[in-house]
Amino acid sequence: MKSIMFMHPLMYEFGVRFLYFDGLKILKPIIGEEKEVFEPACGYGRIKRFISSTCKYSGIDLNERFVNYARRRNRDIRMGNILDSKNYKESDVIILSDILHHLSREDIRTLFSIAVRFAREKIVIVEPEFVTYAAKKNTLSRALGKFMAVMDYDGINEIEKWLSDEEYKSLFYDLKESNNIEKFEIKKFRRHYFVEMFMNENR
Ligand SMILES: C[S@@+](CC[C@H](N)C(=O)[O-])C[C@H]1O[C@@H](n2cnc3c(N)ncnc32)[C@H](O)[C@@H]1O
Repeated sequence: MKSIMFMHPLMYEFGVRFLYFDGLKILKPIIGEEKEVFEPACGYGRIKRFISSTCKYSGIDLNERFVNYARRRNRDIRMGNILDSKNYKESDVIILSDILHHLSREDIRTLFSIAVRFAREKIVIVEPEFVTYAAKKNTLSRALGKFMAVMDYDGINEIEKWLSDEEYKSLFYDLKESNNIEKFEIKKFRRHYFVEMFMNENR
C-alpha cells in the first residue's frame, strides 16, 4: 500500500513543506522566464508555483488522485508513464523533481535518456540531499532509511537504496557522460541538489 503521503495531495503538501521550507525559491531564476516547462512525475504540479507565471507548465504522473486534483485546478497535467517516450512533449526545460531516488538505476537511465531527447535547453534535477544521511552505515541511519522508504513509497516504485553524497555526484556525472552532455552545474541549496544539465547547442 502506498504511503499516506501519496494518498492525497494535501497530505503530500503537508509532508514536504517541513522538508523543503523555502528551498524551492531558487528554482525561479534557474528556470527563467517565458519557458515551456515539462515535468515527468509531476505529482499534482506542486512545482508550478515556484516557477515564473510567464512560463507554460505541463506534466505527467501515474497517481490518479494527484492528476485529478491538478486537473480540477486547471493544471495541464495528465496520466502517463515517465518511462514511455510517447507521453513526452518537446519543451525548453524538463524538470525531474524528487523522482530519481524513487527509481532503480536502470529506470533512471531510461528516464534521463528520454528527457534528453525532449529538452531543448536544459534538464533540471531536484533531489533531496538530507536523505544521504540514510546511506550512512550506522544503526540509526539504517533505521531512518527503512522508515523513510516506507514514508516515501509512492505505490509504484520500491526505494531500493538511499544514495550517499559521493554516489549522488557520481550518478549526476554518469548521466552527463552517458548522454554526451558537455556542460552541467550542481548547486546545493537548503539541503537539496539542484543540477542543471545544459543541452549541447549542435545536436
Ligand atoms: C515524490 S513525488 C514528486 C512529485 C513532484 N515531482 C514534486 O516534486 O512535487 C514522485 C511522483 O512520481 C510519480 N511516479 C513514480 N513513478 C512514475 C512513473 N513510472 N510514471 C509516472 N509517474 C511516476 C508518483 O506518482 C509521484 O507522484
